[in-house]
Amino acid sequence: MSKLLLIIFLSISLLLCLPSAKSQTLSSTITLTVDFGSTISYINNECGGILISGDTTVYPPCTSYKDAGNRARQYINGNIPIPDNNALVINVINTQSSQSISGESAQLGNLFGFCDIRVLVETTTSPVIINGASATSHFVSLEEPDQPNTSYTCSARKLLLVRYINFVNWGNQTIFYVNVNQIDITPKFQLVYFLYVSTSGSNSIVNVQPKNSNYEYGYLQFTISSGTFTNISSSLTLAPFNFIATKTSFVTDKFLNSILNNSPLIYSKVGHLDLGYFSLINNVIMNNDLPIVKTLNLGNNYNFNFINVTNSVFSKFLHSENSQINPQDVSQPFNFYNFLINNNTIISNINDPSDSVLSLQNFEGDSYTLSFSNVASNGNQVLGDKPFIWNKNLNTNLLLCEIPDSFSIGIKTENSNNIIFSTLIDSIIPFAGNNSFFDYSMYPLTNSNNFNYCEVCQIIVDGQIVYNTF
Ligand SMILES: *[C@@H]1O[C@H](CO)[C@@H](O)[C@H](O)[C@H]1NC(C)=O
Ligand SMILES: *[C@@H]1O[C@H](CO)[C@@H](O)[C@H](O)[C@H]1NC(C)=O
Ligand SMILES: *[C@@H]1O[C@H](CO)[C@@H](O)[C@H](O)[C@H]1NC(C)=O
Ligand SMILES: *[C@@H]1O[C@H](CO)[C@@H](O)[C@H](O)[C@H]1NC(C)=O
Ligand SMILES: *[C@@H]1O[C@H](CO)[C@@H](O)[C@H](O)[C@H]1NC(C)=O
Ligand SMILES: *[C@@H]1O[C@H](CO)[C@@H](O)[C@H](O)[C@H]1NC(C)=O
Repeated sequence: MSKLLLIIFLSISLLLCLPSAKSQTLSSTITLTVDFGSTISYINNECGGILISGDTTVYPPCTSYKDAGNRARQYINGNIPIPDNNALVINVINTQSSQSISGESAQLGNLFGFCDIRVLVETTTSPVIINGASATSHFVSLEEPDQPNTSYTCSARKLLLVRYINFVNWGNQTIFYVNVNQIDITPKFQLVYFLYVSTSGSNSIVNVQPKNSNYEYGYLQFTISSGTFTNISSSLTLAPFNFIATKTSFVTDKFLNSILNNSPLIYSKVGHLDLGYFSLINNVIMNNDLPIVKTLNLGNNYNFNFINVTNSVFSKFLHSENSQINPQDVSQPFNFYNFLINNNTIISNINDPSDSVLSLQNFEGDSYTLSFSNVASNGNQVLGDKPFIWNKNLNTNLLLCEIPDSFSIGIKTENSNNIIFSTLIDSIIPFAGNNSFFDYSMYPLTNSNNFNYCEVCQIIVDGQIVYNTF
């Protein structure tokens, strides 16, 4: 009898001790530890670390990314008010045990809702290796629900940082998928950083799509730094790096040993693209005359610098198309400098009127400054009468343009108004123009051989019309 009373008493006190939902507060930063080699069992994804402020339970490490993701979503979906500017840290320890992580265990899932997310490997000496061969979904996604959840905010900013992970054999499965509303006013920025993230055998690495057709220019900023992307072998029409309405920066990245059959390597539509800062494209084969980089409606929001393209086969490095007038940073020229192209096979497509290494097709009447400098080329096999630059519908200020001498045509223009600001264009390589104006008044031209290929042109040298077929 007394035993039963004791049990009842204990049960009642246990009930009383359970904190009521109202009095619980979520910790504003949660740190979940992942140890793929841990053998401590747990139930209901209760692993990694505490969610509730003041919880003194010691939770065992999560043994998979899936469990860590589920644990994190208990925080978001727990019906407890979510603190502003909350942070989620997923800390991977004991990286040696990560070799066999694959399939669903490799999937963190959707982490939309957190303000500051960091997926970190604690040591930087051995990255985590995640095999996506049997993955059924993304490694991580930020997918905003249809019904915006207004019960919490991220008033400072939103951030996702992923560091030191090698993804192998994800095949056609997209590793990172972002589908968020990009017209949010608070926060102003959503930042994504990938540092030392590498892939091998993965054909869809990043796919950013705005949730609705509305987007605010520059709302999402994506930086990919110190990554090595190798063995892409893709027949997808989706580019391995696909960015819509994103301010993207590739910094010190390597793209190696890959074949693309139906898409460019990088596609960027509306936004901004920085590519380079000592990046290397080596042994990349572009089939079907696809450009390595394709952009749509970026205006002059570019910066390409310190890029080496070697031992590759391609027709176009860049195909930039503008079908509308864009939000532009007019103070910034389209910069292209320290571009080294060595030992490539550069093929021509006679059926493509914009065939060239740098193809700029613009909305009529657009006006940008193109700044080229330090373009070096050696040992390339250039097939056909390939122009280096092809410029359509553009009022251009060309600065410091050096044309590699393996090209039979330097610049081909159509419907363009070109003001040339450098003597370096005064080379033996001809330019070809159609319906175009060239003004060499800033730096008078001496080599008139350059006029030869000009179909319908007016050329002004030092204020004088020296050639006019209009
Ligand atoms: C919004 O957040 C609350 C509290 O975290 C949660 O209970 C609810 O399921 C969320 N609603 C949606 C639509 O995500
Ligand atoms: C390249 O990736 C494929 C999977 O797409 C894989 O089967 C192959 O072993 C990889 N090759 C190398 C050299 O890593
Ligand atoms: C990947 O996608 C391409 C193009 O759609 C397809 O041909 C190929 O079979 C896919 N590979 C796998 C393993 O599903
Ligand atoms: C690019 O080429 C230059 C000249 O050969 C070399 O000094 C530099 O290290 C290369 N950069 C990369 C990232 O490979
Ligand atoms: C140039 O390419 C050939 C084969 O395409 C290769 O054997 C050679 O090593 C490359 N040279 C350099 C300097 O990269
Ligand atoms: C010259 O430019 C005009 C006007 O854009 C175009 O219609 C025509 O096809 C061009 N001719 C050649 C040979 O490219």
